Amino acid sequence: MTRRPLVAGNWKMNGSASSVVELIDGITAGSGDIKETEIVVCPPFVYLHTVEELLKGSQIGWGAQNVCQEPASGAYTGEISVTMLQDFGCSYVIVGHSERRNIYGEGDALVAERFKSVLNTTVVPILCVGEQLEERERGETETVVARQLDAVLNDEQGAAVLNNAVIAYEPVWAIGTGKTATTGQAQEVHQFIRQRIAKHDAGLGEKIRILYGGSVKASNAADLFSMPDIDGGLIGGASLKGDEFLAICKAADH
Ligand code: PGA
Repeated sequence: MTRRPLVAGNWKMNGSASSVVELIDGITAGSGDIKETEIVVCPPFVYLHTVEELLKGSQIGWGAQNVCQEPASGAYTGEISVTMLQDFGCSYVIVGHSERRNIYGEGDALVAERFKSVLNTTVVPILCVGEQLEERERGETETVVARQLDAVLNDEQGAAVLNNAVIAYEPVWAIGTGKTATTGQAQEVHQFIRQRIAKHDAGLGEKIRILYGGSVKASNAADLFSMPDIDGGLIGGASLKGDEFLAICKAADH
């Protein structure tokens, strides 16, 4: 099965009113020759309106970096619900990013609740999983990734919760460090994730897109994306430079 490549830019807490316009203009101007890859940008919440205005009607989608577990509204100071994300035309949302897990203590159970709050909406969750350096060194990569996946999969709906989802494998030691996983290391975990999902539902295992994230740059993207189970990338630092981000999107074009 051919899965459509997806490259999503995770801007994290970066940007300003002016730089957001500049970056989006650059990406839009250069995206014409990217034919197949689906391109998505995830700015901070406060710039979603600007990004929506700039990208409406274009081939580039946008999304948010997190979502509240309560899908509508309520007493959740500082949080944003999926209903609100839909108000701003978001088509994706990142859930369970390692910075949310590690800096803000979002555990597997909360991540699963956040993930589930977007099911049956028009917003597609990008579920992030990945091990810390010590966990890799102890040989626990698969155990950790399996636990993070199972928190979402162990639901009465079973694997159907992943029907409309994207997975991002991001080894924590490779995020923002310049240390990319080797293509072999990344492929090994991607294959493990796909097989684990396929055990629940073979068709879903085949069709679900699994992105790699962690120091992806224009110079290493093509090699990573050539791996059979890597369907694109979740890009942090390099998504803040228009040309670099476009080069990564181009590398994902089959
Ligand atoms: P990086 O971040 O590309 O800057 O390593 C990736 C991510 O955290 O999603």
